[in-house]
Amino acid sequence: MRTLLLAATWLCLGPSLDALSLGGRRTEAADGGEKPLRRVRRGWMWNQFFLQEEYTGSDYQYIGKLQSDQDHGNGVVKYVLSGEGAGTVFVIDENNGDLHATRRLDREEKAFYILRATVVNKRTGQKLEPETEFTVKLHDINDNEPHFSKEVYTGSVPERSDIGTSVIQVTATDADDGMYGNSAKLVYSISQGHPYFSVDPNTGVIRTALGPRDMDREQREHYQVVIEAKDMAGQRGGLTGTTVVNITLTDVNDNPPHFTQSIYQFRVPESSRSGSPVGRIRATDRDTGKNAEMYFTIASGDGMDMFDISTDRVTQEGVISVSKPLDFEKKPSYTVEIQVQNTQLDPRFMSMSSKNMATVRIGVEDVDEPPLFDKASYLMELKEDAEVGAAVGSVSAVDPDGARSMVKYSIDRRTDMDRLFNVHPGNGSVFLLRRLDREEAAWHNISIIATEFNNPRQSSHAPVFIRLLDINDNAPAFATVYETFVCERTKAGQVTAGS
Ligand SMILES: *[C@@H]1O[C@H](CO)[C@@H](O)[C@H](O)[C@H]1NC(C)=O
Ligand SMILES: *[C@@H]1O[C@H](CO)[C@@H](O)[C@H](O)[C@H]1NC(C)=O
Repeated sequence: MRTLLLAATWLCLGPSLDALSLGGRRTEAADGGEKPLRRVRRGWMWNQFFLQEEYTGSDYQYIGKLQSDQDHGNGVVKYVLSGEGAGTVFVIDENNGDLHATRRLDREEKAFYILRATVVNKRTGQKLEPETEFTVKLHDINDNEPHFSKEVYTGSVPERSDIGTSVIQVTATDADDGMYGNSAKLVYSISQGHPYFSVDPNTGVIRTALGPRDMDREQREHYQVVIEAKDMAGQRGGLTGTTVVNITLTDVNDNPPHFTQSIYQFRVPESSRSGSPVGRIRATDRDTGKNAEMYFTIASGDGMDMFDISTDRVTQEGVISVSKPLDFEKKPSYTVEIQVQNTQLDPRFMSMSSKNMATVRIGVEDVDEPPLFDKASYLMELKEDAEVGAAVGSVSAVDPDGARSMVKYSIDRRTDMDRLFNVHPGNGSVFLLRRLDREEAAWHNISIIATEFNNPRQSSHAPVFIRLLDINDNAPAFATVYETFVCERTKAGQVTAGS
């Protein structure tokens, strides 16, 4: 049996050392003298050559020696190489089987080459053994630095998070051989971002490194963290890669709203209708969005029933409005205590959201109101035969304003075209100006005007119903029918047909 076998002689393992054998270069393949048995345990094949990548020498790099037991050293046999890179990357000395690499090789480009070798008779060209396959494997050196999957990462974590809260994971890779040595064994460390964040050296998970007290968005919102990945398990001489991680603290409701003033003053005219606005008050909240939404309530004060407060959803202001009719003369000022609170509370920060109060003083402004009659209407009676100048009755009106302006009286002449009556301008007594006849009209309904002496635009009217009392000069039954006819068809004071 003349099977061509390859074996590294120094391994002492080849089952058939009498056949073609491999002689690896001891110094490089043995890695400083590792015992052959340990190589086996690591699964290395016997028919392999090892070659260090990135060889920097100027000569051809010696790989090893092939030897056949058909070669008796008499120059009859010739070694022949074929396969990947044969004749270009790898050359064999046809006389002695020495194998060389012609140029530097990069493991990360191609980790191993599959080659075949045989021996032939130099003279006849006859194959003396069948071809045998072997590999040339490149030994890794640490020629690649770690690379992060992103140049810049962005992460966020709620402010006030517990220490150790995970933020984001960063990952770096290393092109070197992960199966061999530590060239691809990475360790993460933080080179910027202390003391706020930390990174897990093995997983690249970034966590908060300070407690809730120190991670306050309202103090600082943005952080730039720089993470370094180092190969050679982080040892000296390892290669490094870095990445930037921009971390934002997101808002939680850790601040209550605060009034911008402790006392507010407003004025409102007493004539304001229910619902009319009195004024706006503002509170600030250092949080954002939903965490800054607030609402206002009236907590106490003598104006509690007189005013309302609502919240303007757009401006977040408290809008105070009138709820009941005001009267300067009755009560010229009110005080209310107003409370502001967030609409959405975080149970963790309830104690911090102490109730915030402000005092609001509201002055009611006096409005110049027209004179007020002491009755809504007046009924007066007068004998039909009363003399000119007779007193009919009297009306009375006063200015309700604080100024208590003088009032003067007059008769609305449109209601007394015939000038039957007169009113005393100073005291409101009504007198008869002309003699009356009850057959003309049983009622004289007039209107009296009360006007403020100093401000003629402030005036009011009161109806005065004057009834003439019969002194029995007509038959009652006839009078009733006749009267009805007059009332329906004639104006007051008009002389009717048949009278
Ligand atoms: C108002 O003044 C007139 C004239 O001085 C007088 O006759 C009348 O009695 C007075 N009326 C009242 C209610 O005082
Ligand atoms: C005047 O008022 C009285 C009482 O309201 C009413 O009965 C009468 O019809 C009125 N007369 C005229 C002429 O308006």
